[in-house]
Amino acid sequence: MTRALFQRALLPLKAHFIVLSILPKEISMTSPAPQTRRKLIEVSIPLEKINEQSAREKSIRHGHPSTLHLWWSRKPTSTARAVLFAQIVDDPGSRPDLFPTVEEQDAERRELFEIIEQISNWDTVKNDPEGWFDKAREKIMLYTDGNPPAVADPFAGGGSIPLEAQRLGLEAHASDVNPVAVLLEKALIEIPPKFTGQPPVFPGAAEVLDSDDSSAWPGATGLAEDVKRYGEWMLEEAKKRIGHLYPDAELPDGTKAPVIAWLWARTVTCPNPACGIAAPLTSSWWVSKKKGNEAYISPIVTDGIVHYEVHHGKEGGPIRKMMAR
Ligand SMILES: C[S@@+](CC[C@H](N)C(=O)[O-])C[C@H]1O[C@@H](n2cnc3c(N)ncnc32)[C@H](O)[C@@H]1O
Repeated sequence: MTRALFQRALLPLKAHFIVLSILPKEISMTSPAPQTRRKLIEVSIPLEKINEQSAREKSIRHGHPSTLHLWWSRKPTSTARAVLFAQIVDDPGSRPDLFPTVEEQDAERRELFEIIEQISNWDTVKNDPEGWFDKAREKIMLYTDGNPPAVADPFAGGGSIPLEAQRLGLEAHASDVNPVAVLLEKALIEIPPKFTGQPPVFPGAAEVLDSDDSSAWPGATGLAEDVKRYGEWMLEEAKKRIGHLYPDAELPDGTKAPVIAWLWARTVTCPNPACGIAAPLTSSWWVSKKKGNEAYISPIVTDGIVHYEVHHGKEGGPIRKMMAR
């Protein structure tokens, strides 16, 4: 037995297309050449519905994998699900062994279309009372004789394709040359399945729910609770140790407010022996150039230390030339 790698370039799906590898789990070198079966994607797919869902997905801001981290050209998960499914199941017209008559083939094709339309909808991912994903997995098993291929995406980026392969019950592999992408893929695909259905381990967290109930922490909810709790713990610890370096800002009315972003600059020691201050290196002192909301920083040297003042408006402007010298 051997394991072969077939590169399969998929058909362009309007603007979205995917190149991935299908890894047959078992290929016998001695078995007869398989008959050519046309995959559903080679015949027809409900493109309009898939596009509709893919476009809609772009505006989902909460609880969607794309909000984990920005990534270039991240594929909509709807497209990934639909394309993966449609390239694994056969076109029923190629399966007279399963669907002998044209009527049966048409009916089966309609059913496959319905499954694609339903699973490409993000709402079905969140709530699937009718079991559309179970139906999709059953069809995959039917068309692959119970031996579905593994999916490998060597350029996985934000991980849409391997994530959706996993959702369809397929063995998924992901890699990328960029370590940030690999981290995203680990967080999305590799780590959550290891903790599926497990309660959180943060002290006391599991007791919030009835721990005897095995369904109390479905999916990755236990892991998510731990991420939240340990995240809060880390934030508190960081505040204790370095919080004094990030004080609250004082507002014009004298009240204090937490700072949401810090600007930073590297410093160099001024080579002039009579000066010796730690001079900030920056290419611009502008904080905002937005019309009507201009703001800039003025560095003020007092007793050999640079202090910073924030000014609003354009008046006075930043001292760009002076600092560039
Ligand atoms: C268009 S993005 C993939 C987006 C991904 N399909 C998604 O849905 O998020 C292309 C990815 O290929 C990766 N890449 C480029 N050259 C590569 C190489 N030689 N080996 C592995 N990954 C590579 C990039 O780092 C980038 O993450």
